[in-house]
Amino acid sequence: MQNTQTEYIRSITDFKPEIAVILGSGLGELANEVSPIAEIEYKNIPNMPVSTAPSHKGKLIFGKFEGKNIVLMQGRVHLYEGYSSKQIADIIRLLKNLGVNTLILTNAAGGINKEFNVGDFMLIKDHISCFIDSPLIGANDDNYGVRFPDMSNAYDKDLQKLIKKVAYENNIKLNEGTYVQLKGPQFETPSEIKMLSTLGADAVGMSTVVETIAAVHCGLKVGAISMISNMACGIYDKPLSGEDVTIAAKKAGPQFRKLIKEIIKAL
Ligand code: HPA
Repeated sequence: MQNTQTEYIRSITDFKPEIAVILGSGLGELANEVSPIAEIEYKNIPNMPVSTAPSHKGKLIFGKFEGKNIVLMQGRVHLYEGYSSKQIADIIRLLKNLGVNTLILTNAAGGINKEFNVGDFMLIKDHISCFIDSPLIGANDDNYGVRFPDMSNAYDKDLQKLIKKVAYENNIKLNEGTYVQLKGPQFETPSEIKMLSTLGADAVGMSTVVETIAAVHCGLKVGAISMISNMACGIYDKPLSGEDVTIAAKKAGPQFRKLIKEIIKAL
């Protein structure tokens, strides 16, 4: 299926991106800062899942940024939208087919670690896949990777170093921690957050882990950053809403965009 998708994109542009960035909540506007060589809407790509989440636009934007060939995914798709982990793997493999070797993942997440504050950033050092299907279930496609891929260094160590250096040099506070993905779309209960905290999670979200597993399987270098859009349920006695996430994402947007831009520059 990725071949049909790759052929469709190749019929529009022969541009070869090396770096892909999946833009989470609050980062969509980064696309305005890239002079696009081509823009392709997901809905025009054969069999491509279309984002239904608010503020996720659904476009691939190809262009040069700081001399680098990049592709931005403006809008991601989530399991809670009814898509399968395999459909998400296919998107990552499409990026691989287009020439991408480095994938920067961004997201909004709920803070579990009590040292975090809303609006903070967290470098994802490792993840926990919780109650979600692996994107690698089913016959293994040996063209992409091995049946049993190693996940000991899912988040590339050199990329982690580079991201920390960039944050430090730009005076951007960067926490570090473990991200856990659940399926959603409901926010967690206080008991679930207690469980996730006991398991060692620092932040919780509804994306990224599936993308990372698929990316590591096909040999992409992955770097990932969460923006803490709210403290997770039960950390404070405060009900959560999707709107809070959007508001926090908007507020942190300029600094988040700066961080990502500087990372791309440094790559
Ligand atoms: N839980 C799960 N996903 C999220 C949250 C949360 O608290 N905030 C942003 N995405």
